[in-house]
Formats: sequence, C-alpha cells, structure tokens
Amino acid sequence: MKNVTVQTLQNMKNNGEKISSLTAYDYSTAKYLDEAGIDFILVGDSVGMVILGYDNTCNVTMEDMKVFTGAVARGTERAMVIADMPFMSYHADIAEAVKNAGELIRAGAGAVKLEGATDHILAVIKRCVESGIPVMAHLGFTPQSLNTIGGFKVQGKTYDATMRLMEQAKKVQEAGAFAVTLEMIPAESAKYITEHLDIPTIGIGAGKDCSGQILVSDDVFGKYCDLSPKFVRRYGDMSLLIKNAAAGYINDVKHGNFPNADESFNLKEEEAGKLCC
Ligand code: KIV
Repeated sequence: MKNVTVQTLQNMKNNGEKISSLTAYDYSTAKYLDEAGIDFILVGDSVGMVILGYDNTCNVTMEDMKVFTGAVARGTERAMVIADMPFMSYHADIAEAVKNAGELIRAGAGAVKLEGATDHILAVIKRCVESGIPVMAHLGFTPQSLNTIGGFKVQGKTYDATMRLMEQAKKVQEAGAFAVTLEMIPAESAKYITEHLDIPTIGIGAGKDCSGQILVSDDVFGKYCDLSPKFVRRYGDMSLLIKNAAAGYINDVKHGNFPNADESFNLKEEEAGKLCC
C-alpha cells in the first residue's frame, strides 16, 4: 500500500488542505510525479486519447488499463494510484464490474474511478466498497457518455441542473464513494456541492473551490496538443523539447557526429590491429 490512502485524502479535506492530482500512464512519469509530491495519480482512460491516439476514451479496454496501471504503480512509492474503469467494463453486470475492479487492484491500483450515478452505478459502487475496493465517483461531464451528451459540454449550467448534480453527488457518497471528480461544471456549482458533501471533491474545469484539482499530465506538460481545453494551465512545453532534441539528434546522425568515440565500444589494440590485414 502507498503512503497516501483514502483516509489521507479525507483528512486533507477535513483540514482544508488542497489535494493535488495528475494523470500518468507510464513508469517514469509516475516516478517523477511521485517524487514531486503529488497526492494521487490517476491512470485515466484519457490514455486512449493522449497515448493511444483515439479521439475519445471509449476504445480503451480492461487489458489496456491493466498494463498502464501496472506501469504507474511500479513507478510510485508515496502517491495513491487510482485506475479508471474503462467504458463497458462496469455497465452490463454488477458481478462483472466488481471482478474488473478487482483486476485493476491486482494490477497495482489502490482504488478505481467510474462515471455516473444511475441506480446501476450506485449498486456497483456499493458492491465494490463491500468487496474492499475503494471507489472514486465522476460526475458532471462524463467522457464515456460523450456520444449521449453530444460533445465536450459544460454540465450543471442552471440552478436546477446544479441541484440534480448535488443529488447525484449525495447518492454516490451514500453508496460509499470516498471522493468524487467533478468535471466541467460552473465554479459556483462545484463550490456548493463541495460545501454540502462530507467526501472530497476533485475538480477538473470546476473552479477553485473543490477539495482538490486534477488535470491530464500530457496537457499540463505540453505533450498532447490536439485539444486545448479552457481549464488547462500549461506548465511546460514537452512538444518543443522533444522536437528540438529529435532535430539535434537527426542533425548529428546525418553529419556523422553521432556516436562519438566515448559513445562507442572498442576492440583492444592488438585485436583491432588484426582487422587491418
Ligand atoms: O481519464 C481522465 O484523465 C479523467 C480526468 C478526470 C482527468 O478521468
């Protein structure tokens, strides 16, 4: 078990300490985020877009999630690792959902995240928690429902819609979720929900008053540039770093400047001498 647990996150909310979180999908990135002091790492199904190149998250499979979760877990010592349950891995049947959640825990996650608050989803949360699997809920804009929502749209935009979100948030809390991600909802709505819940809220495009914040690391580091959501703040430009480094390498190869003697292995002199004959 990692140092940061469900209880740590709850204590942070109770003490008014903000929770920091980013996604990661590979060993090295997880290691650097962990060393930087991130509280939890989400192996998001955003992996489908930023790593696998799909245009939404619905193509991601359980097999994908197990591989990426294992890599992140092996790179992490302190931070809690949470794995997204991919599209259709928890919708058809409760028993199958619990089994799939268990496989992500076996792969190295300390908890799973799933989207929505229908009666079926509430039952899945309850059964997972009863089975010893902590669950983070995800409300507001839920990317796996992109096709029914009809695009990347802000949710909860009226008083009534905010009250419906509040009701869903209460229900996932009652079902046993230890936290809830609020994606793309007005800041005022997220503040209201945060103040009326016991469990922490983790915002992404939900204003500053959530208990914590999460972003997709490839957006934050400027590595994934296909989309630029309004709520992302870019803290680096990895695309430029990679392109400049690659251009330098290509130039050196083309001009015979790579590798040099220090970067090569050599025969002993007497062995090399024999090659001259
Ligand atoms: O898949 C994902 O990256 C997410 C976000 C909340 C960051 O679910």
